[in-house]
Amino acid sequence: MRTQVGIVGAGPAGLFLSLILQRAGVECVVLEARSRDYVESRVRAGVLEEGTVALMDELGAGERLHREGMPDPRLDIRFHGGVIHIDLPVLTPGKIVTVYGQQEVVKDLIAARLARGGTILFEAEAAHIDGLDGTRPTIHFKHEGRDETLECDIVAGCDGFHGICRSAIPEHLLTVYDRIFPFGWLGILAEARPFPEMSYSNHERGFALASRRSPKLSRLYVQCAADEDIAGWSDRRIWDELHMRLYDKDGGELFEGPILQRGVTPVRAYIAAPMRHGRMFLAGDAVHIVPPTGAKGLNLAAADVRVLSRALIEFFRVGSTERLDRYSDTCLKRVWKGVRYSNYMTSLLHRFDTHTPFERRVQQAELEYVAGSLAARTTIGENYVGLPFEED
Ligand code: APR
Ligand code: PHB
Repeated sequence: MRTQVGIVGAGPAGLFLSLILQRAGVECVVLEARSRDYVESRVRAGVLEEGTVALMDELGAGERLHREGMPDPRLDIRFHGGVIHIDLPVLTPGKIVTVYGQQEVVKDLIAARLARGGTILFEAEAAHIDGLDGTRPTIHFKHEGRDETLECDIVAGCDGFHGICRSAIPEHLLTVYDRIFPFGWLGILAEARPFPEMSYSNHERGFALASRRSPKLSRLYVQCAADEDIAGWSDRRIWDELHMRLYDKDGGELFEGPILQRGVTPVRAYIAAPMRHGRMFLAGDAVHIVPPTGAKGLNLAAADVRVLSRALIEFFRVGSTERLDRYSDTCLKRVWKGVRYSNYMTSLLHRFDTHTPFERRVQQAELEYVAGSLAARTTIGENYVGLPFEED
């Protein structure tokens, strides 16, 4: 097989890219290791910046998002001493976020790509890539039990954190920045009426977050050990911790219900640079992950492919590599701002067992400062709704 752009991975990064390219008349093939059913049901993040919503709209994939997604004008932070209200349209000004599950984004993008006659090969796992330094890189993959090859002009590595594209770059050419936080998040999806506001909480027992997926579905998280054994968490223990950590003192605020899904997410920042090697360009989780506390992972993936698609369209139309050559630098500016914000929110809201009494006091003072400062709340609000796009 051959194509112009070989895209490895049908997560948000690969799917957004495939649709933008398809619309511009650039030919591409998406290879996805897992089944369609698997990628469509993987529960993950759920907060979309306005830029991400706009991209769904531009691609004609925003109809269900506008019907079922929940426009969210507020973010609350609970802590020992009160609640901080971050009123997004007032602070940003005029902006909001939309709560809509990542797997719903993935479903909508897959449907849009297939409806327009695009190719996604599911259960097609890329094994290795040849010829990245030349002009005809080749992706070797397995599909329906056969070894196949996809020859391309450009490879887009959109295969997530555990993919193979990043590791196709010689180690000495990559600079890696890594911070592994000493805790994880235990997340549940529950059939229960959610909190009306997105609520992050700093409690002495650890962080908690009350989010939602629909008016009847709650998405809730509690800080846990990095290597937490989920078997140690009975439903009762999960709900008890959530009531406590969300300061639901008389138990009347947080509704309980059957837990439909549960899992542990690592809390880690990892950035590899540059985001390019020869004819391969990396985007999304394949090249950077951020702690979930900022809700930036999916949005950064969408921002990367916005820049990449523009550079690729220029390359295929007029043969210029100027934008492609700037791709990594352009994206990394936004990525590092996302890392900074996610790192800040993670440090502000979690319990660190290694904290000295001094550091605990500073964290508490920071929360009290944010509560009392319009400037500090504006800083959180403008990052949460999404910073303006960089010039590229
Ligand atoms: N061959 C083909 N596909 C692969 C391979 C491979 N060797 N390895 C991984 N994949 C696929 C995965 O199965 C997955 O569907 O690549 C896809 C990568 O998708 P994501 O992990 O969702 O990454 P990305 O598209 O960058 O989206 C970033 O995902 O991790 C979340 O919350 C994070 O919102 C962020 C978003
Ligand atoms: C979610 O709804 O899953 C969610 C919301 C906010 C975050 C992380 C996850 O910071």
